[in-house]
Amino acid sequence: DTSLRALAAQSGLRIGTAVNTDALASDDAYRSITATQFSSVTPENVMKWEVVEPTQGTYDWSAADRLVAFAEQNDQLVRGHTLVWHSQLPAWLTAAAPSMSADQLRAILKKHVIDEVTHFRGKIWQWDVVNEAFNDDGTLRDSIWLQKLGPSYIEDAFRWAHQADPKALLFYNDYNIEFTGPKSNAVYALVRDLKAKGVPIDGVGFQTHLDTQYPLPDLQSNLQRFSDLGLKVAETEVDVRTTLPVTPVEQNAQVGGYTSTLQACLAVRSCLSYTVWGFGDAYSWVPGVFAGEGAATIYDENLQPKPEYTALQQTL
Ligand code: XIL
Repeated sequence: DTSLRALAAQSGLRIGTAVNTDALASDDAYRSITATQFSSVTPENVMKWEVVEPTQGTYDWSAADRLVAFAEQNDQLVRGHTLVWHSQLPAWLTAAAPSMSADQLRAILKKHVIDEVTHFRGKIWQWDVVNEAFNDDGTLRDSIWLQKLGPSYIEDAFRWAHQADPKALLFYNDYNIEFTGPKSNAVYALVRDLKAKGVPIDGVGFQTHLDTQYPLPDLQSNLQRFSDLGLKVAETEVDVRTTLPVTPVEQNAQVGGYTSTLQACLAVRSCLSYTVWGFGDAYSWVPGVFAGEGAATIYDENLQPKPEYTALQQTL
């Protein structure tokens, strides 16, 4: 068995993918690859607040429940994504938040975290409790959470999540923290302080959205310093985008990006999982967000494996 999941199992690593649940329902090839190549799944969108509580007080867990059931059938672990974020909030919340008091907004956030974690209790391996709370310069992002609640919303969220599912591993997750610099240093200081205060945080997720135009200097040593704090680490959203059309030089760089990010995780003992942010270039979020870029995943538009896939196989 040369599937990614079989090879990863030999190293005690989980290899995951973000899952587009519409594709999972409608595309047999997509469904088959999801089941056979990966040992962990992350809902690309269906556990986000705007999906699970489209109207205040009315939950819709149906899409997320279907993915959790799929994971159980296929002996996969689930990364829950994500509880507290500035993006993909329900419209009712974005509209009402500015005129709410801090106490009102805190109560709404607490209910969201506790209700969602409780709904999935026992079924989630790792939760991304707080996502993308920092700016690239290392200051805290000016979200409604920071504006109304101050920085303590972060530790509150971890405590609420732990209360609702004491066995789930609780992660802080962000992008552009793969290398050392102001942002990764700020996250490092945050999680070190949370640990020191006894806040229930178990790990840090490094999204790892790479672009062939930017270098990736020191991922392994950076993962190691977080690990040395007594935390788990994970690469949670790996993809390597480039400008289209792809040249052979760029594709080599993409292959190198997948190889070196996987090597870094394999080299750090506490790196629990390596998750790609979807597979199949036709399903990738990249072209919709980064103008002129794409080809960021390990399978092509027809769901045929690319050299990036082979690189992961050979690295495992
Ligand atoms: C993206 C999804 O891939 C898109 O389908 C959606 O439209 C927007 O969100 N960081 C994250 C993910 O933590 O939740 C984002 O996912 C990509 C960036």
